[in-house]
Amino acid sequence: MKFFIDTADVAELRRWHELGFLDGVTTNPSLIAKSGRKIFEVLEEICAIAPVPVSAEVVATDAEGMLKEAAKLRAIAPNIVIKAPLTWDGLKATRALADQGVPVNVTLCFSAAQALLAAKAGAAYISPFIGRLDDIGEDGMQLIRDIRVIYDNYPWLDTEILAASIRSSDHVKEAALAGADVATIPPKAMEALAQHDLTDKGLAAFLKDWEGTGQTLL
Ligand code: E4P
Repeated sequence: MKFFIDTADVAELRRWHELGFLDGVTTNPSLIAKSGRKIFEVLEEICAIAPVPVSAEVVATDAEGMLKEAAKLRAIAPNIVIKAPLTWDGLKATRALADQGVPVNVTLCFSAAQALLAAKAGAAYISPFIGRLDDIGEDGMQLIRDIRVIYDNYPWLDTEILAASIRSSDHVKEAALAGADVATIPPKAMEALAQHDLTDKGLAAFLKDWEGTGQTLL
């Protein structure tokens, strides 16, 4: 499973890249707003960290406007992936971009039928939002499972399932079990992936016993 980081915080992205866990980046208008920075400047900086796919979202709601914005975003760096919403205009723009060889991440997916449409439109990635479905009492992970089955039924659909709106390390584990190709993980959930109380307790006990031997390794 590929790990994308779901943030526009450059310091966080550098940190995860240095640790070797940055397979890609996803941003959205809310994350850009949270960064407090100018979109073109921050995306340029993010793209320079590593040659990994960086999703940049259009904000126009009509296909023509989306295509104009996509051209400007793509000019930032070759690793920009255009993020378009799952609307008929978004799907129209996705088809046009895919025909030009531009990778598109179709976002705001909340049903398997929507995911099928995105794949048929030529999306490189589909982003089902797990956490937001859980928030309204639905089973977000079931959507990932359903999309996996549908895409596997038609192997010529080569859209990757990008599990989005991840809130916890459990979401990452469940998405991996369900066969998501990618998880886009916010820094907090990423941090939590390595955490286990027994790891902390075990390490403390080993270090205490080691100290008692009076030895050193170096
Ligand atoms: C990623 O592509 C999405 O924009 C993001 O995962 C949404 O997460 P949220 O539902 O926590 O805002």
